[in-house]
Amino acid sequence: MTLLMKLSRRDDVGLQHQVFEQIRSMILDGTVKCGAKLPATRLLSETLGVSRNTISLAYARLADEGYIEMRESVGTFVSSQIPDLALLPANASDVSSHSLDGHFTILGGASIAAEVRSQTLINPHRRPLCADFWVGRPAAKSFPLKTWSKLIHRRLLSAGGALTEYKDPAGLLDLRKAIIEHLRAWRGITAHEDQIIIVGGCQDGLNLVCRMMMVRDGSAIVETPCYQGAAYLFESFGARLHPIPVDAKGLVTSMLPDVANSIAYVTPSHQYPLGVTLALDRRIELLAWAARTHSYILEDDYDSDFRFSGPPITALKGLDRAGRVIYLGTFSKCIGAGIRVGYVVIPRGLEDSARHFKTLMNNGQPWLEQAALADFMKDGFYESHLRRIRRLYLNRRNALLDSLKRHFGSNEVLGAEAGMHLVWRIPKHLPSAHEIETIALSVGVGVYTVSSGGAADLCPAAENDRLLVLGFSSLSEQEIELGISRLAQALAKINPLAITRSSAHLPKGEIRPRSKGEASQKQKRALDRRMLA
Ligand SMILES: Cc1ncc(COP(=O)(O)O)c(C=O)c1O
Repeated sequence: MTLLMKLSRRDDVGLQHQVFEQIRSMILDGTVKCGAKLPATRLLSETLGVSRNTISLAYARLADEGYIEMRESVGTFVSSQIPDLALLPANASDVSSHSLDGHFTILGGASIAAEVRSQTLINPHRRPLCADFWVGRPAAKSFPLKTWSKLIHRRLLSAGGALTEYKDPAGLLDLRKAIIEHLRAWRGITAHEDQIIIVGGCQDGLNLVCRMMMVRDGSAIVETPCYQGAAYLFESFGARLHPIPVDAKGLVTSMLPDVANSIAYVTPSHQYPLGVTLALDRRIELLAWAARTHSYILEDDYDSDFRFSGPPITALKGLDRAGRVIYLGTFSKCIGAGIRVGYVVIPRGLEDSARHFKTLMNNGQPWLEQAALADFMKDGFYESHLRRIRRLYLNRRNALLDSLKRHFGSNEVLGAEAGMHLVWRIPKHLPSAHEIETIALSVGVGVYTVSSGGAADLCPAAENDRLLVLGFSSLSEQEIELGISRLAQALAKINPLAITRSSAHLPKGEIRPRSKGEASQKQKRALDRRMLA
């Protein structure tokens, strides 16, 4: 038989691989039938102008993978049982049947949830913006690159078997000890190293807890609005969400249901997304509720390292005498989301169970990042890094408050004492948050409504559409001013009374004379060039 093949002498795909691939494709698409005899290696090598060895090696690989059979002194034949074809169902009716609700059943009736709600992790507009106030992004340049590379390198040199052997699934002991020290000094939490489980960020920690707590088919109490990652995860486990509103003092604890063995997910230090801090009387009430109903509280302390005034507020876990709080911490916000390291503080009595679940989930986190992070903390780099970025974010927050005041005459905000974002209450004479989001986008500025900024607004209240969520940590002071001034000008086109006089009197497209800390025209043009449209 003749095989119609065309080889190319590109150096990125070897000839032997091309022969293998082309014959394999011909077998799979039926061009060459099962049982057919293939040309002898000598003949095929002459036809294709390649060495006989190339063909022999390609045949040997095809034989190894079960596509052909070499029969001594008889020849080479296409196998009667082709591996890929054997994996296909005999007819279409064998394929699992899909149902419209996003579930399909497979053998034995197991159900796979084919549709879950996906959280928005990055700016949903997917286009470069001249100023993007997306939430929760650390300043890219603040990553301690030099120190980090040194620590990684040092650990690599002395790694020994650490990279080849399984380690404690709960995480590197050095890191757990460093975390305990940090929690004691900054969050008022006392924990034993057995209570710490290193995970791949808060989201991974939430998954661990969901598995442990059997949220499945139960219900989960959440703040509304709340972090999408938590709400959608609970849903994916089949839990019904039980939303509790948030007011200026945080979660309205008087509305907690009196149901035993519940689980409540909260963000007490800096409510996500509204930014409010849970008041002390509510903290006490929440803890008392958990003790009374034998429930657990999941405290997500995602950005608590950034408190701009006064001493850090003790975490809820620091007040937990009944062992009812499971604490989630992350290095995503204070170092970088790319390193994917976080931790869970497990209440006494549940340590073994948590460790067993963690082992079943993934046998533990990568050793190298854990080791470098442990050194980063132990050697004092973490403290100085935190001090530095706290100052940086404070300046950026102040720049945002100044810009809002200057251009709109109002900077009535929620949650500005801490964190990486604040919530601006839109003055009455301006359009709604949804409208402003669209207008801002048309001039290359990303601002977000309560529900578009990575949050789930489970009981959308009318007043939420008067709130805009503005992340400031990843923007320079110049970018912040540029973004807010552009937004002000765009709104002034619709309603000249929308903005303050200083902004309103600017000629079309021009930006106010610069004051200290604001961008020069040159800088602004450079930023503008980064926009696509
Ligand atoms: C409230 C909240 N929790 C958790 C996370 C995710 O943290 P991680 O990167 O550690 O999974 C975020 C991310 O923005 C968040 O806003």
